[in-house]
Amino acid sequence: MEVPRHITIIMDGNGRWAKKQGKMRLFGHNAGTESVRACCEYAVEHGIRYLSLFAFSEENWDRPQDEVQGLMELMLKSVLGERETFRKNNIRFRVIGDRSRLSEKLLANIDMVQDETASHTGLTLIIMLSYSGKWDIVQAARRYASDCLAAGKQLPLDETGFSGYLATAGIPDPDLMIRTSGEQRISNYMLWQCAYTEFYYTPVLWPDFRKTDLEQAIQSYNLRERRYGKVE
Ligand code: FPP
Repeated sequence: MEVPRHITIIMDGNGRWAKKQGKMRLFGHNAGTESVRACCEYAVEHGIRYLSLFAFSEENWDRPQDEVQGLMELMLKSVLGERETFRKNNIRFRVIGDRSRLSEKLLANIDMVQDETASHTGLTLIIMLSYSGKWDIVQAARRYASDCLAAGKQLPLDETGFSGYLATAGIPDPDLMIRTSGEQRISNYMLWQCAYTEFYYTPVLWPDFRKTDLEQAIQSYNLRERRYGKVE
């Protein structure tokens, strides 16, 4: 089976999964980490080059404080807990998003694991944390403007050049975007990067998402004809 080069996932439905069992939302987030592991394993086994996961949006900062805190702690625990997995499986770990809102402690640990895995050549696992599509486009525009100011003139800019200012610079655009839990929206995710991405929606809630579900998504992707606005 042919696999997409870059798969991105909007991991949705943790809260509903927990509620169905009469548990706290954080219970669902915790269970979601098992699905993250399953997808990483599948990606490593099948030679997927990039797997990016939408773990926390800019909008998620407005959730109740204990949920935000719990998610940040879960992130820290996962980053530290998976170091050995990254080493054994040659996984390069990256975190992309608005760093200014993350704690010093989380940032220091993220940086440590990013540095530690920087030379790994297998799967690149990208956690989109405190990320939103519009935030990304605005920060890119700001950085371009400040480069112009520094140069004292308007610098040339095309689409490829602009991509280089995005937080995802250097990472190929997603080929396949999966969203779980039945929601069919892009929710301010990689707005620029998903210009030609194939979307796949599944009713499965994120904590129930396993390798077979990922495989189904890839099979559906393989049946599609990507024309990028051209005719065959
Ligand atoms: C969406 O479900 C999920 C999130 C906002 C968080 C996703 C985080 C994890 C799966 C934790 C593990 C991640 C890593 C990278 C270790 P929701 O809370 O919006 O669910 P709902 O729509 O049912 O309320």
